[in-house]
Amino acid sequence: MIERTLSIIKPDGVSRNLIGAVVTRLEQEGLKIVAMKMIRMSKEEAKGFYKVHEGKPFYESVTDFMSSGPCVVMILEGDDGIQRYRKLMGATNYKEAEEGTIRRNFATDIEKNVVHGSDSVENADYEINYFFNALEIAGR
Ligand code: CMP
Repeated sequence: MIERTLSIIKPDGVSRNLIGAVVTRLEQEGLKIVAMKMIRMSKEEAKGFYKVHEGKPFYESVTDFMSSGPCVVMILEGDDGIQRYRKLMGATNYKEAEEGTIRRNFATDIEKNVVHGSDSVENADYEINYFFNALEIAGR
């Protein structure tokens, strides 16, 4: 099934000049970028984005980090897009991520793990609508 998923290149990825490397991996995997922009979230916006994690021990820290600098947000589209992108990213903890995944290759920390991806159709829908309006999404 063709699915859309939300991808973020996090502040560590942007500041380390990894935008091109990540985008190349997405395109090589055959995922289509149907929307893309650079944003800078406020702390409140980061809290709204990560509200599913509210109350967890890392919630304050991750929302500080995500509002610490610009991010690139993208909508990716493809057959089984949510799972394919998650496989390409690798595990949240880069130490547990498979060889060749984006996080295994580039992450430096469980928090500074370069990329984010939606984990379900429901969350993808919430996350896409959090950042993009209909005019910003290209048909490809
Ligand atoms: P992400 O996939 O964006 O989802 C939540 C983020 O919180 C995660 O990537 C990490 O950047 C961060 N995080 C920090 N510590 C943890 C943890 N113990 N478990 C899950 N996520 C964590």
